[in-house]
This record gives sequence, C-alpha cells and structure tokens, in this order.
Amino acid sequence: MSLSPRSIAFILAFLISLITTSFLAFVEGVSKGMLFVSAIASFISSFFLILYTVDILVFREVNNMYRTIHKLKMKDFSMTPRKKLIQESNPMKTINDEIFVYVTKKQKEIDELKKLELFRREFLADVSHEFKTPIFAAQGFIHTLLDGAMEDENVRERFLKKAAKNLDSLDVLVKDLLVLSQMETGDIKMNLLPMDMRLLTNNIFSRLENIAQDRGVSLKVKPDDIPEVWVKADADRIEQVMLNLIENAVKYGNEGGKVIVHFNEGKKYVEIAVRDNGPGIPHEHLNRIFERFYRVDKSRSKEIGGTGLGLAIVKHILNAHNTKIAVMSKPDKGTTFSFKLEKAFTQTLIEKTENEALSPVSP
Ligand SMILES: Nc1ncnc2c1ncn2[C@@H]1O[C@H](COP(=O)(O)OP(=O)(O)OP(=O)(O)O)[C@@H](O)[C@H]1O
Ligand SMILES: [Mg+2]
Repeated sequence: MSLSPRSIAFILAFLISLITTSFLAFVEGVSKGMLFVSAIASFISSFFLILYTVDILVFREVNNMYRTIHKLKMKDFSMTPRKKLIQESNPMKTINDEIFVYVTKKQKEIDELKKLELFRREFLADVSHEFKTPIFAAQGFIHTLLDGAMEDENVRERFLKKAAKNLDSLDVLVKDLLVLSQMETGDIKMNLLPMDMRLLTNNIFSRLENIAQDRGVSLKVKPDDIPEVWVKADADRIEQVMLNLIENAVKYGNEGGKVIVHFNEGKKYVEIAVRDNGPGIPHEHLNRIFERFYRVDKSRSKEIGGTGLGLAIVKHILNAHNTKIAVMSKPDKGTTFSFKLEKAFTQTLIEKTENEALSPVSP
C-alpha cells in the first residue's frame, strides 16, 4: 500500500491527539469538554504541521530529482510538470516509475551502442582483410617482376595481367564501399523516373550472356510475351540491383540451371522476382546475407570473385526507393529474391497499348 502525505498526516495527527487526550484524561479537574477541545486542537494543529513538513520534504526531493534529471540531459523524459507532481497522491512513486522507464530506455540505447561498436570493429577487420588480399597479391607479382622475372617475356605478361586483375578487384571493392557509405549518409539521391524493367532485364541478360553460357544457365523472363514493364525508379540504381540479383542467381545457382525474372503487375505496384533453381541458402544464413561482406560459402564465393557487398548495396538502394527486398529459399529447390516498385503512368500505358492495338499496322 502506498501512503500519501495527507494520509500520513491524518494517521500521525490522530495518534498525537489520542495520546495527548489520554494523558490529559488522567489529570484531575479536566472536564470532558476540555478533553474534546484539546483533542480537536491537537489533531488539527499536528495534521497541518505534519502535512506541511511531509509536503515540503516531498517537494524538495522531487525538485532534487528534477535537477539531477536535467543535469543528465533527460530531454526525452516524459515528465509531468512540477506543480502537478506535488499535487499527485504519491509523487515519489510517480517519479520513481518514470525514472524506471527512462533507465530501461537508456539501457536499450547502451545495448544498441555496444552492438554498433562490435559491428564497427568487425567491419574494420573485414575491410582490412578484403583489402589485404588483392594488395598483397599485386605487390607479390610486381616485386617478382622487379626481382628479375621481367626478363622472361611470358612470365612478364602473365604476372602483369594477374597484378592488373587484383588491382581491378580492389577498384571494384573501393567503389562498392564508396556507394555504400554514400547511401548510408544519404549523399546519393534517387532520381525517380519512368523506366522499362523489361528492357533493363534484356540488357542485363546480354551483359551476363557469357557467364551464363559458361555455366550452361538459361535466362528467362515470365510472362515471356510481356512487352514493357514501366516503373518509377532510378534506372542506374535499379540496374545495379537487377545485375547483382541475376548475377548471383547465375553464379550461385546450379550448372545447367535456370534463372527466371518474374514480373507480376498489380494495380499500383509491380512485383519483380529473380528466381533460380540452385542449391538455395540455408535458413540460418538468410537474415545475414544482406550484411556487408557476408558470404554463405566463404571460400566458394571468393573463388567466384564476390566481395559480399552486392546484397548490402541492393538493400540500401531498395530502401531508398521506399521498398524492401524479400528472400525465400529452400535447400536444393532454389532461391527467390523479390521486391516491389511503384508503377509508372499506369493509365497512360494502358491507353497507349490500347491505341497501338487499334491503330492500323503499316506494311
Ligand atoms: N541466388 C543465390 N543462391 C545461393 N546463394 C546466394 C544467392 N545469392 C546470394 N547468395 C549468397 O549470398 C552471399 C552474398 O551475396 P552478395 O551478392 O552480397 O555478395 P557476392 O555475390 O559474394 O559479392 P558481390 O555481389 O559483392 O560481387 C553470396 O556470397 C552467396 O553465398
Ligand atoms: Mg553478388
């Protein structure tokens, strides 16, 4: 049970008046009327005295807490104004509750900061590791050449090519990291304009034709007779998204497998899905593949040439389009990455297609 200053004052005043009257009752010559008056007088005077003292104490304590709270810059602390606190039946309890809420909130913030610190340390370790590999390799080739291998023409060309390849991957890594940091600081603004996803997919298929052929992977669009898919998006960034998703499906899917890009048009949005029938991604990795430098099969992905930044960039680009990437994967069945984009000129396009269908075809 929580006691308010008023109830405390009442109980104490009652006890004081009871004791005083009891003692007075033993004094000779004191009439009942006198006893009654002294009981009332002692009750009223002690009630107000105690109430005043308790209130002052509470008030002071509350003020002290207030000052401490302000010192700690508790800006986001939702506290009732001071006057109101004093009028509360139990202001100490109220302020105690609020401090508890605040402390819990702060604890959460501390946990979050600790997590971020750990993430920062891991990220730094990952970056240095990723940089080290191509730099050491290129350095090794160039030093071997300088130490005399340059004389042999065959070796010279081979080593220079290898050094160049390593420096190229370093270049890709730096560019990817730059894009990621620009996305995070919000330096890159999305230039949302109508673009045709169907055309973009065709272009990417042509760019990946060689890799797909090497692995015997077929690239398809569904529905395959869809002429255009107009969305409102940043064409360059969405190209980066589609390139990574389709390239991943080819690289990490099965040899001789299938990669299908599905377009599912809704009223306001188009859902785009990139599906493969590869080995899939184990459930425990699904949440982590969007982290920077995260690869499921580290050695295999590296062998294929990935830095593990692709999906982190994809996630940021789609977030900047106010949409999200979803992933579904079943072991040995395949993986599907999907996202939605806002349709561009929904009505105009329908009218345009209708008009085209009605207009006479010139020979
Ligand atoms: N379709 C897929 N099937 C199986 N695994 C996949 C698929 N897509 C991505 N992964 C796994 O997720 C990891 C992260 O992919 P991500 O695109 O971020 O990096 P990457 O392809 O290794 O490198 P980068 O894209 O930077 O060249 C990959 O290394 C791979 O292990
Ligand atoms: Mg990738």
